[in-house]
Amino acid sequence: MAEHPAYPVGLRLTGRRVVVLGGGQVAQRRLPALIAAGADVLLVSPGATPSVEAMADAGEIAWRRRPYAEGDLADAWYALIATSDPEANARASAEAEAHRVWCVRSDDAEAATAWTPATGTSEGVTVAVLTTSARGRDPRHTAAIRDAVVEGLRDGTLVAPHHRTRTTGVALVGGGPGDPDLITVRGRRLLAEADVVIADRLGPRDLLAELPPHVEVIDAAKIPYGRFMAQEAINNALIEHAKQGKTVVRLKGGDPYVFGRGMEELQALAEAGIPCTVVPGISSSISVPGAAGIPVTHRGVAHEFTVVSGHVAPDDERSLVDWPSLAKLTGTLVVLMGVDKIGKIAETLIAHGKPADTPVALVQEGTTAAQRRVDATLATVAEAVRTEDVKPPAVIVIGEVVTVGPSAQA
Ligand SMILES: C[S@@+](CC[C@H](N)C(=O)[O-])C[C@H]1O[C@@H](n2cnc3c(N)ncnc32)[C@H](O)[C@@H]1O
Repeated sequence: MAEHPAYPVGLRLTGRRVVVLGGGQVAQRRLPALIAAGADVLLVSPGATPSVEAMADAGEIAWRRRPYAEGDLADAWYALIATSDPEANARASAEAEAHRVWCVRSDDAEAATAWTPATGTSEGVTVAVLTTSARGRDPRHTAAIRDAVVEGLRDGTLVAPHHRTRTTGVALVGGGPGDPDLITVRGRRLLAEADVVIADRLGPRDLLAELPPHVEVIDAAKIPYGRFMAQEAINNALIEHAKQGKTVVRLKGGDPYVFGRGMEELQALAEAGIPCTVVPGISSSISVPGAAGIPVTHRGVAHEFTVVSGHVAPDDERSLVDWPSLAKLTGTLVVLMGVDKIGKIAETLIAHGKPADTPVALVQEGTTAAQRRVDATLATVAEAVRTEDVKPPAVIVIGEVVTVGPSAQA
C-alpha cells in the first residue's frame, strides 16, 4: 500500500479528555504539554515515575492506579499508549480504532494513528516537526531540525520578522555579566530585532559585533551630556530614538534593577509615553562569584547573602548602607562597585566585630576571558588590591563561602 504523508494539525484539547496509558518515561515527557494544552488528562497505570506521581498529587492529572482495561478510552478524544506491555498496547490501539480516537503508540509508530512531532516554542509560535512517513522516522533528526529552527528564532540567526506585533519602543535588557552566552533567550531575540542598541561598558559586548550593519550601536558612556547629567542624556537618547519609530534596546550589564538604574530609565520613558519592556538579566552579584567557584550560599556555611553597593565609603554621608549591622551578619556579603573603597569597608566591618581573618575574594571581569580571582582576608584585602592591581569591574565576596569550593581548597 502506498504510504501517504501524515497530515499535520494542531489539536485544541482544552477540557477534552486525553487518556494516557502507562506512567513511565514517555508519559513523563508528554504530560507537561498535554497539561499546558488544558487537556483533561486521565492516566491509567499501576505505577508512575516520581515526576508523573507529582503531577497527579498536584491535581494536574487524574490517575487510575491499575492496568489498562477495555473501555478506558470511551470518552477520549486523543490517546497516548505507552505501557510496557505490547499486548495491552495492541488491545488499547484496537479500542482507539473502534472508537475513532486518534492514538499515539510509543512502541509501534506503524500501528499508531497519530504521531507526536518534535516541538518547541518561540514567541507565541509552536514549531512542530514530523517526518513524512513511518519508514522515514528518525526522531533525533526531527528533534535536531526543531532545535535548529527554535534556537535560530530565539537568537536571531533565523530572521522571521513580526508583521503584526513588531515590538516598538524600548526594551531594557539585562545582558548578564559579560559572557555572551549568559544573556536570556528573550534578551537575545530583542537584540536581534533592534534598530538601535544603546549599550553599557559592562555586559555582553561581544554580541554587538554580531549585529547586522544597519543596526546603530551607541556606547552609553559616549553620549554627550552637556548641560544634562549623564543619565538624563541617556534617557533622552532612548526617548528620541523611540520617538522616531525605532525599536530600541538598552543593553545593560547584569540585571537592569540591580544597581542598574533600570527604574530611572523606565520612569523617564513612561513620562514620555513610550512603551518599555524590561528583560531581567543574570546579575554579576551571583554569577561572577559562581564563575570563580564561589557559591553565595552553602549548606551549613551561609544561610543568607547580602548584596551591597560599595561605591561610597562607609563614613560618607551619602551612604545608605548600615555597615555596623552588616558586620554582625554571619552570612555572605557581596560588594559591587567596591574596589576603590574596600580598604575603608574592611576597616569598618572589623571595627564593628567581623573577624579580621574572614575570607575575602575579589573576582575581576568575571565570566569573560580576562576573569581573575584574588583571595585575601578582611585584614589583608586593601593591600591585596594594591599589590595585585585589582581593577573594576570586580565583585567582592566576604565570608566563609569563599573557601568552600575545590579551587579554594586546592
Ligand atoms: C553599576 S553595577 C551594575 C550591576 C549589574 N546591574 C548587575 O546586576 O550585575 C557595576 C558593578 O557590577 C559588578 N560587575 C558587573 N559585571 C561584572 C563582571 N563581569 N565582573 C566583575 N564584576 C562585575 C562590579 O562590581 C561593577 O562595579
